[in-house]
Amino acid sequence: MKVGVLGAGTMGAGIAQVAAQAGHEVVLVDVNQVQLDKALAGYQKVFDRMIEKGQLDAAGKTETLGRLSLKDSLSAFAPCDLIIEAIVEKLEVKHAVFKEMESVVSESCILASNTSSLSIASIGSVLKKSDRVIGIHFFNPAPLMPLVEIIPAVQTSDKTLVICKGLIASWKKIGVVCKDTPGFIVNRVARPFYGEALRIYEEGMADFATIDWAMTELGGFKMGPFTLMDYIGNDINYAVTESVFSAFYFDPRFKPSFTQKRHAEAGFYGRKSGRGYYSYAEGSLMPEPNRDEVLGKQILDRILAMLINEAYDALYLNIASREDIDLAMTKGVNYPKGLLAWSEEIGLKVVLDRLQSLFEEYGEDRYRPNVLLKRLALS
Ligand code: NAI
Repeated sequence: MKVGVLGAGTMGAGIAQVAAQAGHEVVLVDVNQVQLDKALAGYQKVFDRMIEKGQLDAAGKTETLGRLSLKDSLSAFAPCDLIIEAIVEKLEVKHAVFKEMESVVSESCILASNTSSLSIASIGSVLKKSDRVIGIHFFNPAPLMPLVEIIPAVQTSDKTLVICKGLIASWKKIGVVCKDTPGFIVNRVARPFYGEALRIYEEGMADFATIDWAMTELGGFKMGPFTLMDYIGNDINYAVTESVFSAFYFDPRFKPSFTQKRHAEAGFYGRKSGRGYYSYAEGSLMPEPNRDEVLGKQILDRILAMLINEAYDALYLNIASREDIDLAMTKGVNYPKGLLAWSEEIGLKVVLDRLQSLFEEYGEDRYRPNVLLKRLALS
C-alpha cells in the first residue's frame, strides 16, 4: 500500500515517519518548501539518534529515507492507496484539499483526516465518493504515542474502516474506534482533568502546585493538570476546551475557565513562552505545594469522579467500547489506570455518592451523575 500524507508540520511529518518505518512507500506533500526541508532535516536527526541507540543501522536509515518522497504538489498523490491529511484546522481549507485530492487519486483510495476537532462527516461532505472518508487521529508526537483514534463518519463504508483498522495495527499502534462526535474519546473524556482543576483553583480551595501535587503524588498521574496545560500550551488547550464546549451545544460540563482564558490572552502559554501557571525562566523555582493529605484527597476524589463520570457518558452514548475508552486514556494521555476499571476499584457507589453530593451542594448541571453510572451503582 502506498501512503500519502498531506502537511509536513508537527503531525504530518511524524505520521509519514511512522508509515515509512512500517515499510510503506510514502509521499509527503506540503505547499511550503521550508516545512519539507525541516521535515527532512528532522528525519536525518531522528534516524541518527536511533542508530546511536542501536535501534537502526545505517542501511535501515538509507532504506527508510528512500521510501519517503517529499513533494510540493498534490498531483504526487496519484499512485496512493491511502492519504492522511494533517494541515491547518480550518474546514474550508480541508474541503478544498479533499476535493483536489479526490480529483487526483484512484476510485479506491481512502481519504483520511487527522483532525482533532472537526467532524469527519463535514470533511467528507465535499467528496463524490464519500464512503472513503475516515478520521485517523494520531497523538503528538506521532512516532512515540501508541494510540490512534479511528473515526468512521456516517458516510464511511465498512470496507474503509476494516482496511484502516488493519493498517493501524500493522503499524504497531493501538487503534480504538470511536464515533464521529466532538473530541472523539480522549479530548472529550479528559476535559475535567483541566476544567475541574481550574474550578478548584478558582474557588480558592488550593493553588496550582497543590492541585498538581494531589494528582501526581496521590493519584499517580504522570503530570498534574497545570503542569500538563503549561506543556500543551494554554492557547491550544483553551482553544480545544472552547471548541468542545460549543460543539456540545454549551453543555455546562465543558464550560471553559476565565483563569485559563486570561493566561492565554496574556501570552502565558506555558513552557513555550517561558511562563504559564508556573515560571520557566532560568533560575526560577517551582512553588511548594501544601502537602495536606486530607485536602489532597478531596482534590483527587473530585477530579477523578468527574473524569469517571465523563467516561461513563462516553460509554452510555456508545462513543466507543468499554475496552477502547480505557485504552484511549491509558495509551493516549498516559493515565495510570483506565477510568472505567478505576471506578470499579473505587466502587461505583462511592463514585456516585461523590458526584451526587457535589451536584446537591452546587446545584450545577456540570456535576450531574451519568445515568449509566447511576444504574450500575444502584443495581
Ligand atoms: P502544523 O501547523 O504543524 O502543520 C501544518 C502543515 O500543513 C504546515 O506544514 C503547512 O505548511 C501545511 N499546509 C497548510 N495548508 C496546506 C495546504 N493547503 N496544502 C498542503 N499543505 C498545507 O499543524 P499540526 O499541529 O501538525 O496539525 C495538523 C492537523 O493535525 C490539524 O488538523 C490538527 O488539528 C491535527 N492534530 C494536531 C495535533 C498536535 O498536537 N499538534 C494532535 C493531533 C491532531
